[in-house]
Amino acid sequence: MLATSSEAPARCDLVIRNGTVIDGTGAPRFVASVAVSGDRIVALGELGRTVGAEEIEAAGKVVAPGFIDAHTHDDRLLISGPDMAPKASQGVTTVIAGNCGISLAPLRAKGRPPPPLDLLGGEDWYRFGDFGEYADVLEAAAPATNAVMLIGHSTLRVGTMDSLDCPASDAEAERMRALLAASLGEGAIGFSTGLYYPPARSAPTDEVIAIAETLERFGGIYVTHMRDEGDQVEDSIDETLAIGRAAGVPVVISHHKTVGPKNFGRTRQTLARIDKARETQEVGLDVYPYAASSTVITLDRVTLGVPVLVTWSEAHPEMVGRYLHDIAAEWGCDRIAAAERLRPGGAIYFQLDEDDVRRVLSYGGAMIGSDGLPHDAKPHPRLWGTFPRVLGHYVRELGLMSLEEAVHRMTGLAAARFRIKDRGVVRVGAHADLAIFDPDTVIDRATFEDPIRPAGGIEAVVVNGRVIWRDGDSTGERPGRLLRRGADQDERANGG
Ligand code: ZN
Ligand code: CU
Repeated sequence: MLATSSEAPARCDLVIRNGTVIDGTGAPRFVASVAVSGDRIVALGELGRTVGAEEIEAAGKVVAPGFIDAHTHDDRLLISGPDMAPKASQGVTTVIAGNCGISLAPLRAKGRPPPPLDLLGGEDWYRFGDFGEYADVLEAAAPATNAVMLIGHSTLRVGTMDSLDCPASDAEAERMRALLAASLGEGAIGFSTGLYYPPARSAPTDEVIAIAETLERFGGIYVTHMRDEGDQVEDSIDETLAIGRAAGVPVVISHHKTVGPKNFGRTRQTLARIDKARETQEVGLDVYPYAASSTVITLDRVTLGVPVLVTWSEAHPEMVGRYLHDIAAEWGCDRIAAAERLRPGGAIYFQLDEDDVRRVLSYGGAMIGSDGLPHDAKPHPRLWGTFPRVLGHYVRELGLMSLEEAVHRMTGLAAARFRIKDRGVVRVGAHADLAIFDPDTVIDRATFEDPIRPAGGIEAVVVNGRVIWRDGDSTGERPGRLLRRGADQDERANGG
């Protein structure tokens, strides 16, 4: 299992010594030192004679591939907060952005973008007419983590359609196909939809297929926040699978869950359906480890009757961090009226069943994705807590799965799904993206009351061979890259 010391270099840039390596493949842990030169792992083993310009003592700590956050809305954070602290602090080294149908590019907004596009920013942030422009700005910003980008259907609709509450005309669909193709040519890796949200709700399945068909010749991926995660969730899964089959591309179901008290327990059926489909087509999914969701303030979620916690409000910022029923009582109105007065804004909805969360987390094909909303005034704690919460709460405290399995879902599995080359694994020749954590203490500290808190137990985080996070703080290093379709991807899926 250990490389012979004779293969190891006498000197290298970084040695992480005597850690317990969990390599991201799901294989059992082993004790080894890791040598890094430039941006690659160059040796793995005893390495007694190798000296690093920098050394990290990791005895008793886990050395894992850096985590891949399979579902993010970090399009803007990569530019406006390039130390990427909410993610770096968790051991995340690569983020998949552009999810839920919303990406910053390609769109030059005229006026305020409609919700949920405003989760990423206002008109001034939608200023990239093509993906290449956005990619240039991203690379100039030099974020601490790597980024992989999807192109959002709602973003395309807002940019090409006069009215969003109808299906795209043939000409509009053609324009969206061209924009998607150009973006894929410039390095985006796939296409996301948010069919649940008003800007895309009127798009029939055929419209999505017409655009998604563009993906096949680029080896692109289709990712979706489905039309319905409530009463019609199984129909939505069927729609997603049909789109994948018709377009001839892999699909990823975002933040899989079944919402509302009526649908508690229903993940038994949805996971069985997904499992069946996996026999004949490539299907992935991601999940966050909380029984509460978060998005813009939407009335259909308010009417479910579950507790609603306000995360931002343009009209009433003083109400951030308070529950909707308290606000309604104070204003002497019902919850719907209060929600209308608070908009535009965002909220957390306590609408999931903990058993469903555990069932989806336990599912072998589930990647971990934070779905964090980095620009909310008082965000859902998943933004800062997702990965340590899985490792500390669900693995160590509850024993939901082995640490090897959890690490695999955060790394090797996500790399395989998104076809990211030479990452998500600790092996000689791979990129040196690493998370070093204490398996006995790693835990989320972000809570619903106090959500902006770095996790505990994350010792050091390495991106492309450079340490970006150490001893509870950013190091100031920003070695992240835009990982481009083609260049940074494997030719085809390698299973997982
Ligand atoms: Zn979503
Ligand atoms: Cu999302």
